[in-house]
Order: sequence, then structure tokens, then C-alpha cells
Amino acid sequence: MKLSSKTLAQDVCNRVAAPLQDTVVDYLSLASVARQAHWAVVGSEFRSFHTYMDELGTELDLLIDDTAERMLAVGVLPVGQVDYVAKHTQVEPLPDTFVQKKDLVVALSERIAAVAMRIRERITVLDDLDAVSADMLIAATAGLEKTLWMLQAENS
Ligand SMILES: [Fe+2]
Repeated sequence: MKLSSKTLAQDVCNRVAAPLQDTVVDYLSLASVARQAHWAVVGSEFRSFHTYMDELGTELDLLIDDTAERMLAVGVLPVGQVDYVAKHTQVEPLPDTFVQKKDLVVALSERIAAVAMRIRERITVLDDLDAVSADMLIAATAGLEKTLWMLQAENS
């Protein structure tokens, strides 16, 4: 079965879907990092950071679904299974150890900043193709950059 957009040309849809797929992979990767941080955090302020990572995971889950369903709206099936994500991710995993909160803040900030910068590049590509998809990534980047500010405040 094949879906198709009723509002965008097929070649445009394929070019729109590619940066969206890369973004889904980034979000899935960050969500697994946030979940690992939720479990791995130790030290003072454990409780609040443990809860914060749960909230971040939930926010990322919403972004994953919104972005994947935007791909479907342009007629392309998203791929979000672990084998695909493992093969394509650019997000470095956290160590398989307990980690102090202050070190997790640094590790998460680096990874979220890298994702936000990649999404900013994708926005410039999408700007010329599909303003609706670009708008979604702009809103998501605002959220990620807000998270960066909040993480920075944790260690200040
Ligand atoms: Fe939990």
C-alpha cells in the first residue's frame, strides 16, 4: 500500500520526508538517552533530576510521534525501529554506569545542542520545500533550546 499527499508533488514529498526521518532518529535517540539518565542519575538532587528526565522523555515521545505523522501526511512511512535507529543515529549513548547529575547535565546538553543544530540545518532545507514541516521543526527547536537553558541552569 502506498499513501500520497494531495497537496504536494511526489518528488517534493520525498525530499521533505528525508530530513523528517533523520529528525525522528535524533528524537528517538535523545529519548533513549533521557530514559537512561532517568535511571542512571545518582547524587544530590537525585529526585528532581530523575523526575525531570521522565518529563523530557515524555516531551520527546510527543515530538517523535508528531514528526513521524507529518511524514505520513506527506505520504511516506516513517521508520523508528531499533535496528534502523542504531544504524543511523548520530547521538552518542551514555555510559552504562551510574552518573552524577552534574555530569549528566553536561552529557545531555552536548547531545541536545548537537541535535538542535542538525535540525536548524534541516529547517533551511525544508524552508524551500514545505513551510508546514519547517514550522514543526522550528517549534521543536524552540523547545529543545529551552531545555538547554533549563539544563544550563541546573549546573549554574
Ligand atoms: Fe521511572
